[in-house]
Amino acid sequence: MNETQMKHLSWSVNERGIAWIWLDCAEKSANTLSEPVFAEIESALDAIAATGAKGVVFASRKTAGFVAGADVEAFAALPDAAAARALVERGWRFMERLAAYPLPTVALIHGHCLGGGLELALACRARVAVRDRKTRLGLPEIMLGIYPGWGGMMRMPALIGPSKALPLMLTAKSVNAQRAKRLGLVDEAVPERVAALAAEALVLNPPKRKGLPLMERLWAGPLRPLFVRQAEKQLRAKVRAEHYPAPYAVLRCWSQYGGNPLRAPADAPASIESLAAHPTTKNLLRVFFLQERLKKFAKRETAPITRVHVIGAGVMGSEIAMVCAASGLTVTLQDLSLDALARAQQAATRWFQRRFRDDETALRAALDRFIPDPQGVGVAQADVIIEAVVEKLDVKQRLFAELEQRAKTDALLATNTSSLSLESIAEGMAAPHRLVGIHFFNPVTKMPLVEVVRGAQSDAQAVERALVFVGKIDKLPLPVRSAPGFLVNAVLAPYLISALQCVEAGTAPEVVDAALEAFGMPMGPIELVDTVGLDVALLAGQQLVPDEPTPPRRLQQLVQEGKLGKKTGEGYYRWEKGKAVKRTVKPSEIPEGLAERILAPLIAATERCVAEGVVADADLADAGVIFGTGFAPFRGGPLHWRNTKDAENREKSARMA
Ligand code: NAI
Repeated sequence: MNETQMKHLSWSVNERGIAWIWLDCAEKSANTLSEPVFAEIESALDAIAATGAKGVVFASRKTAGFVAGADVEAFAALPDAAAARALVERGWRFMERLAAYPLPTVALIHGHCLGGGLELALACRARVAVRDRKTRLGLPEIMLGIYPGWGGMMRMPALIGPSKALPLMLTAKSVNAQRAKRLGLVDEAVPERVAALAAEALVLNPPKRKGLPLMERLWAGPLRPLFVRQAEKQLRAKVRAEHYPAPYAVLRCWSQYGGNPLRAPADAPASIESLAAHPTTKNLLRVFFLQERLKKFAKRETAPITRVHVIGAGVMGSEIAMVCAASGLTVTLQDLSLDALARAQQAATRWFQRRFRDDETALRAALDRFIPDPQGVGVAQADVIIEAVVEKLDVKQRLFAELEQRAKTDALLATNTSSLSLESIAEGMAAPHRLVGIHFFNPVTKMPLVEVVRGAQSDAQAVERALVFVGKIDKLPLPVRSAPGFLVNAVLAPYLISALQCVEAGTAPEVVDAALEAFGMPMGPIELVDTVGLDVALLAGQQLVPDEPTPPRRLQQLVQEGKLGKKTGEGYYRWEKGKAVKRTVKPSEIPEGLAERILAPLIAATERCVAEGVVADADLADAGVIFGTGFAPFRGGPLHWRNTKDAENREKSARMA
């Protein structure tokens, strides 16, 4: 039968009597769900029912994946809470109709299947996922300050049991095809070549659902209050309800309203209205769009990148190489020290084993792509060469002068330097325009941001290629201009020094940390200094906080005594089993406005970076500080937070006047 073309999908019934609906949202690189898409699917389903087809397979024509989720732009543009409720209602009705469709329905999932996309798949009778690095299934709505309101909170716990479903929703984690199969989220996890067959087989023989295991039924039934109490306790240890209400709302919505948000009265804390009105939701949406903006920097056409050569297998180089290999690039890793290479190989093996624990083939492939290369043979074939050797100018100068002779003429040459100027590293090169900075953060495997540094001598095309490379290894690239500390360290250093000065003036380290944790920082600044190393902090302070000519006395003294923080077991804190020994601080012990005072130099430095063109604008600065330092995402970024606070203060004084 001919294909029926609609704006966002096409459908046809094949000779085996199976209808295929191909989702292909117009003018978008990924499928997203919105009113027009719902309407088209509904009309296709009505038409298919009239053809006598045996069942329906949903699949995607986008290479990016199945469905990325709800249309976040449409959601962000909703005028008020009533409109938010109407949107939830519309999606809920759609999913209910799909779930009640008289013919068997199967979702064929390849690539991302997130949020509303997974809710659609869950409303189908069965699911097949393609085993592939890019296949990810999850309900990450809480990252936007909202919840899976189109049936996910009801259907996922019902399908796989609350003890597996709730943690997925509460952590916003996504899983690959194999893990999804083990969890029971999909019926089959298969290689791409048999995926269509497997989907059609499920249409013809829909799987019989076995009931949930006894324990899951107890958690969902009589033990539900106990389950919720325990889950809330764990949640409280990680996030504060006043900062991030959405995960708490997920729990309540599941426990009190059976996962149906439409049943929550408007004034309930778990209602659509409460979440829509919360400032966190607006700010998290802002962070989502900032992230999309960073991702866009990587979406440009450049020569293909398949081989990377990393020089220096220390703290940074070894993890850079690991991340590259895990992302599908072939990596050669060079170091003068064979010991360093052996350690890097061991660390990579351990990390790949964890990362690919559900996928033996992917694990083998990643290990094969990670190649220790003491002689630097890889230089001649590499598309990208990243230098991460000791922070010494003459060593780096010599290295690049030699590298440019041996590298391919179009290879990208990059340094991971934190504190040396690109222009001086490039001085000895015949073609200094080839050198850019690709500045990773420690630990590379965990930190999402990478600064791409344009030196005064750097070629614009080389910078573009570096941005694309960073996207290829699933990191967020932030373009910055060469300047001391670039953006992230330039704003972090004065903040840490300001926290240390506060301790110097007599406030207990625990109180300083508690104040900033209550503000929403992932870790207090004193603990962060201990973690980074007091020697590193002292040096960074001297280089990056010129207005503070004398470093904090206690910092100098501790460094002199060799008490460098976590790595030596003592710094501002004593460290036991990798944890700082701290006393608990009561909220009443935290002086009013302490966090704001400590943060003031960070805000000033961020503004200065914008004024001096280190980053292109205030939004990018906010994005860099959030993804590079963990600055409380629910506050929307340092400059946004400052502006919001100023506006509130102006409003307050206007009211008082
Ligand atoms: P590291 O001291 O842990 O590792 C450096 C490695 O380079 C050592 O294994 C050493 O044997 C090797 N090496 C030295 N000279 C070499 C040469 N000529 N050829 C091949 N290998 C050579 O250093 P780390 O911390 O990994 O730093 C490396 C670079 O990354 C530095 O430029 C640093 O500024 C930068 N960086 C460091 C961060 C950190 O948190 N450690 C963060 C961001 C950047």
